[in-house]
Amino acid sequence: MDYRRQYIKDLFQLSPGEKVSAYGWVKTRRDSKGISFVQLSDGSCFKDLQIVVEEGAVDAESLKHVTTGACVRFDGEIVESPAAGQAVELKAAGLEIYGAADPMTYPLQKKGATMEFLREIAHLRVRGNTFGAVFRVRNQLAQAVHQFFDERGFHYIHTPIITASDAEGAGAMFQVTTSMGHDEKGYNITTKDPAEDFFGKPSFLTVSGQLEAETLALGLTNVYTFGPTFRAENSSTSRHLAEFWMIEPEMAFCSLEGDMNLAEEFLRYTIQHALDKCSGDLEFFNQRIEPELLKTLTLVAESGFERMTYTEAIKVLENSGENFEYPVAWGTDLQSEHERWLTEVKVGRPVILTDYPKEIKAFYMRLNEDGKTVRAMDVLAPRIGEIIGGSQREERLDVLEEKIKAQGLPAEELWWYLDLRRFGSVPHAGFGLGFERLVMYVTGMKNIRDVIPYYRVPGNADF
Ligand code: 4AD
Ligand code: MG
Repeated sequence: MDYRRQYIKDLFQLSPGEKVSAYGWVKTRRDSKGISFVQLSDGSCFKDLQIVVEEGAVDAESLKHVTTGACVRFDGEIVESPAAGQAVELKAAGLEIYGAADPMTYPLQKKGATMEFLREIAHLRVRGNTFGAVFRVRNQLAQAVHQFFDERGFHYIHTPIITASDAEGAGAMFQVTTSMGHDEKGYNITTKDPAEDFFGKPSFLTVSGQLEAETLALGLTNVYTFGPTFRAENSSTSRHLAEFWMIEPEMAFCSLEGDMNLAEEFLRYTIQHALDKCSGDLEFFNQRIEPELLKTLTLVAESGFERMTYTEAIKVLENSGENFEYPVAWGTDLQSEHERWLTEVKVGRPVILTDYPKEIKAFYMRLNEDGKTVRAMDVLAPRIGEIIGGSQREERLDVLEEKIKAQGLPAEELWWYLDLRRFGSVPHAGFGLGFERLVMYVTGMKNIRDVIPYYRVPGNADF
């Protein structure tokens, strides 16, 4: 066996008469008088290959094992298909069973299984229509990310996953340690002095690669990271994961305007890429998951985003006449109900909010002339809320030192970050996009747990 065999997506391109082998997993099998119809998928495209098995064409004993979930190979001839929705099908002449799947116990049997149930069989759900489509779209979006930045001269860099710096304050952190006493089952018995721990001090899984990305941008000019990110917040919402993937570009010689322009261009590019490359999958999502999906994605790919300052947004929200659960007031963080109202009801497409109060944003954001707001931006998308968070960074040493002090952060641990402002400082900016939120937006999937193969949330790291 060789990986260079044809995928099912390629078999659809062949002309009648060609002799081929089709490899995959059985979606369904239907029998009628003297003939069986098998739907076969190898995950290469949304459409299943239909295989027609006439009586006596393959070994009858083997055919019994062609049931939902079985892994098989059919050999045969490409023929014109009389059925609607497909030009060709495979007329079977041979069959090999690689792995049967007992219909009495195979868990992925019925159509219409709930998303909750499918999460419990995350190791098998990729074989169904929905999750095959999700992971194909996820792949194309990831490819689009690299393509987008490569075309613009950005360098792809890898920032550390383990870090002793807790400076960003983006969220609660997971500690990484080898110094816990544990019993034979791995349960903690005692903890020791952090100085004796593996890294010599408390160390954590990163919440963002931004600060390190800044150091690389101040030398390579334009860089980006695309890696796993960890947050230990105890929030079980449909938009939060404890382990998610983040894309973080960082640009030297760049202001907040440049940052917003890049964010907008980036989202439109990746969405257009998915529209071009995953039309079969997106049509399925449009039919089964989110009725307006194709219309809204096309609109977003073609039109600009609305831009508004935080102060303007607060005014609009105060005058909205809506009865929000959380009251709106200048100086408080926007809740997801506010964000969704702005983008879904008020504007009807993505909105970029800028210039937030300095108290509710991270220390590294550049202080505005007013002394009250910072050069922050959040991109809010309908259905999702915040999809991107970014800012122009504070490049002035004295202002940055002042802000670090005001927020009570350990300046001595940030010596290397401050060095960037001591030696060759420059206006620079960047943002972070939660990759799973982009996948949710493009597929219309409602829960972030359903756009990553294995989801990590409070209480779940099983598989
Ligand atoms: O807004 P955040 O916290 O920004 C940062 O971490 C900056 N350092 C980014 C930068 O400027 N380089 O996170 C960025 C994005 C959010 O907008 C959201 O899309 C996503 O990361 N995100 C999450 N996605 C899934 N689960 C979570 N728990 C997330 N927390 C943030
Ligand atoms: Mg944010």
